[in-house]
Amino acid sequence: ERFDATGLHLLPGAIDVHVHFRDPGYDYKETWETGTAAAAMGGTTTVFEMPNTHPPTATADAVADKLERAEANAYVDFGVYGLLAENNVDQLEALAAAGVIGYKCFMGNTFGNLPSPSTGAMLEAFERIAPLGLRTSLHAETASIMAWRYERLRAAGRHDPLAHVAARPSVVAVEAVARAAILSEWTGARIHVLHVSSAAELRPMAEAKARGVDITAETCPHYLRLSTEDYDRLGSVIRVNPPVREPADAAALWAGLADGTLDMIATDHAPHLPKEKHNDVIWDADCGFPGVETQMPLMLDSVNAGRLSLCDYVRISSVAPAKAWGLYPAKGRIGVGADADIALVDMNRTETIDQNQLHSVNARISPFHDVAVTGVPVHTLVGGRFVMRKRRLVAEARGHGRNVKRIQNMSKANIQNADRTLAAEIAKTPEKS
Ligand code: DOR
Ligand code: ZN
Ligand code: ZN
Repeated sequence: ERFDATGLHLLPGAIDVHVHFRDPGYDYKETWETGTAAAAMGGTTTVFEMPNTHPPTATADAVADKLERAEANAYVDFGVYGLLAENNVDQLEALAAAGVIGYKCFMGNTFGNLPSPSTGAMLEAFERIAPLGLRTSLHAETASIMAWRYERLRAAGRHDPLAHVAARPSVVAVEAVARAAILSEWTGARIHVLHVSSAAELRPMAEAKARGVDITAETCPHYLRLSTEDYDRLGSVIRVNPPVREPADAAALWAGLADGTLDMIATDHAPHLPKEKHNDVIWDADCGFPGVETQMPLMLDSVNAGRLSLCDYVRISSVAPAKAWGLYPAKGRIGVGADADIALVDMNRTETIDQNQLHSVNARISPFHDVAVTGVPVHTLVGGRFVMRKRRLVAEARGHGRNVKRIQNMSKANIQNADRTLAAEIAKTPEKS
């Protein structure tokens, strides 16, 4: 059958540096198969997966085990994060050798209940990571302040949705971003701030960038497209860490993406069972929801609405993450990021997001259910192979996704070999005078 791309736009596939695929340990919520199928359906060709699985990805063995699960099942390319916690600072080099894409540090507590490192442990960790050149992604909220606020509001019987925002005031993120930036500046370790949700965090971000700190940051579609005005309508479904904030915050995040204070878009894809999301007390519902399948349609819809240009979307969904994690082909070179990871999108097609159709089959619940979007990926290719064709998953492509860390090492070796061959050819060629 002939392939016809008439009327479509060809974009690099999205690189989502923030997904939770739950395998091992919580595979009743999501697996590598379902999570990467959702990515393929959403035009995302590379995912970096978070370590709050069970066991957490805190040792070389845990990395090897997770990579095996991914290699056997993934539809799209992947990297896995290693955990940076209070009690595994001595494992960081071993994690690098086992092939992590970078580290994840939970400065604040969240799903999985992993121990947040003290500032001292973070400093020691950053000193060890700096020479490795890997980037550390931060859940930047201050655990101690958060716990104290939470207890106080609970004691006051404040279980209303807006108390959920109040319990995690953006100042806890401001403090954490500023502190992490100081540790990064001190040690030279690269950092990335996950899920920026508020206007207030942009100030320490911009200041750190102005000082030359190697810091990048993401925000997520839910912080751009939702606000406290949606709390009544969505109830506990909207619960996420950090929380969705005021309309003025969303406006500031759009501005941050436009002026470069924020580098990229990621999803914090956080699947939970629908019954775990539904709770009369919003504070007792699990945090997060699937996002990897809906990111591109939501953002392309925002392109159509004039919020950003298509070029800006390519910058924040693919170019910026590729550059930050060293997946971008060096000038004049073919490398990772140039191996035909492609989304073909129809900017004129309108679809209504239906949570019951999500490929995260155990977590079919979304705050974007019933939202009509214009701009939809129609075909996705990973390494030149279809993983979604005409809006259908290509089942045979299961297990075709590759570990980007391995591709990266291969392409480095290829470049060195090519350089050697070229040098030999040049040496053989007699100079003409
Ligand atoms: O909402 C969230 N869900 N925030 C996090 O930081 C963790 C995530 C999860 O793993 O469920
Ligand atoms: Zn987080
Ligand atoms: Zn997360």
